[in-house]
Amino acid sequence: MLLAKVATHYRKIRGTKTMKSLADAGLLDRINGSARLMIVSDLDSTMVDHDDSENLSLLRFNALWEAYYRHDSLLVFSTGRSPTSYQKLRNKKPLLTPDITILSVGTEITYGESMVPDTGWTHHLNRKWNRDIVVEETAKFPELAPQSETQQRPHKVSFFVEKVKALEIMSFLSEHLEKRGLDVKIIYSSGIALDILPKSAGKGEALAYLLQNFEVDGKVPLHTLVCGDSGNDSEMFTIPKVHGVMVSNAQDEFLQWYKQNAKNNPNIIHATERCAAGIIQAIGNFCLGPNVSPRDIKDFKKCNVDIFSPGHEVVKFYLLYERWRRAEVDKSEQFVKNLKSGFCPFGIFVHPSGIEQPFHQCLDYMAKLYGDKTEHQFRVWVDRVSSAQIGSDTWLVRFYKWELSGDERQCCVTTVLMSLKQPDGFTWVHMHQTWLEGSRARDQTAWCF
Ligand code: GLC
Ligand code: MG
Repeated sequence: MLLAKVATHYRKIRGTKTMKSLADAGLLDRINGSARLMIVSDLDSTMVDHDDSENLSLLRFNALWEAYYRHDSLLVFSTGRSPTSYQKLRNKKPLLTPDITILSVGTEITYGESMVPDTGWTHHLNRKWNRDIVVEETAKFPELAPQSETQQRPHKVSFFVEKVKALEIMSFLSEHLEKRGLDVKIIYSSGIALDILPKSAGKGEALAYLLQNFEVDGKVPLHTLVCGDSGNDSEMFTIPKVHGVMVSNAQDEFLQWYKQNAKNNPNIIHATERCAAGIIQAIGNFCLGPNVSPRDIKDFKKCNVDIFSPGHEVVKFYLLYERWRRAEVDKSEQFVKNLKSGFCPFGIFVHPSGIEQPFHQCLDYMAKLYGDKTEHQFRVWVDRVSSAQIGSDTWLVRFYKWELSGDERQCCVTTVLMSLKQPDGFTWVHMHQTWLEGSRARDQTAWCF
């Protein structure tokens, strides 16, 4: 319904920069046809579990995404957070880089890593919207406590309000604002947050707009999975043809909405798992593709992975590396020998310090570091894996390799030349790393791979 209703309108505004922004962000190059899967996920208490200080389910999702989906699928984060508070979350949690970021409850859409804003979308939200009037009218309700300045945005005015008062205030407010000529949407989330937006904004409308743009270009994703936990997510679940997962820890107001509006929709599930684990569960439930995270595979030798891909190769190597330094695998010569067999004996690693070393020397050094990170909550993850086949059996692979150790977080932009040797998989031929700006290790010599 929503999609059909807004289609004509969006057709008018899409002549703007949306598709160009997608192309500029490198999105359309990577995905030639339609994305195989588009995941549109809320962040707080959906992708990110604030009760999980080790971020285990998020890291499981990351490994799954980079190993099997990154090359042909789209990751979209849709959050209530403003750009500043989104950045804060990124600095704190091991979040992947999404292809598209929808911020401030669907009032801001940006593309790619550099977050190119969709100005056409913002422009379209000005209709029957006047921020000053919203501020003026809401000031009449002492129960409404304004959220911090950083959460206030051009098309979003946000408050905190107690659950018992929320409903009444919402109905009063919409009446008042309508009388003053505005067309707004008032959303209550997490039993505390109240947002006022233009009627044409919101997470659902923003998603409908994206899908419409893809449709015009004949590039609608094969499957779309929306993921959420609270009131402002419910709109996304009304978009036709999408699958939806309410994570197990979903809020009352969202479950209530589900009971009243979507109970008989077989495309929506209430997961039994929390946050990102619930997303992985939904991928399996709806058969949207691989749903076993490489993090859940204890022994890669015993597991018949039938998808050999550079993404999987990189994720697997760094998992083994993490387990070695966390002493989660047996300390054996065989383990190091197996790792070595995946590297070309004469291959060179150009360390981010600029020093060049043969791979085997680096692996011998790594062997000495067994268990050195057991006390450091050491975690490794890769982001934005991309690869290009440059010869009959040769791939050039590029990714961001992150390492968390205690409070320190470092990242290297990494390029690897790999060759495919059937039936053993990939051999690493050459590797090169540079520090991502601002994430250089204080002690460069402590950086191993
Ligand atoms: C996020 C935003 C907040 C908003 C809430 C609900 O927490 O930071 O401003 O009110 O989501 O949408
Ligand atoms: Mg949430």
